[in-house]
Amino acid sequence: MPTIQFKLNGAAVSVDVDPDRTLLDVLRSRLGITSVHFGCGAGECGACHVMVGDRAVASCDMPMWSLADKDVVTLEGLGTAERPHPLQLAFISEQAMQCGYCVSGILISAAALLARNPSPTESEVRAALDRNLCRCGSHNRMVRAVLRAASEMTTS
Ligand code: FES
Repeated sequence: MPTIQFKLNGAAVSVDVDPDRTLLDVLRSRLGITSVHFGCGAGECGACHVMVGDRAVASCDMPMWSLADKDVVTLEGLGTAERPHPLQLAFISEQAMQCGYCVSGILISAAALLARNPSPTESEVRAALDRNLCRCGSHNRMVRAVLRAASEMTTS
């Protein structure tokens, strides 16, 4: 079985794995990363989003062979309970979460957007979150939270 090496939340990782297995599967079953969720399994809902470089991508649709030497960030690498990311604080302030199933992927999509564009417009935030589904209907609060975080990050 080949060994695939990549960076996960800033730490080097080596995993012996079938290269056709998905990153979502390996994160959850081998690497203890539970923030990524299985939703559609087809790259359509965003529940499994992780950041690769400065892009949010569907880990359910990403074979392990494609990850060699890539830099992967999950929600576990964004902030901690002691030091939450400004996006996490803004989601709390705007009460932007309901059931929470989609939120990890949405925070990752938002973090990727802010990494590329620290001061997005509302329509840019909506476009960046367009690939994330929230069945609770919290999208408007989430958009407000991302704009709030962007504002706080650029003024602090
Ligand atoms: Fe990956 Fe839906 S589970 S996009």
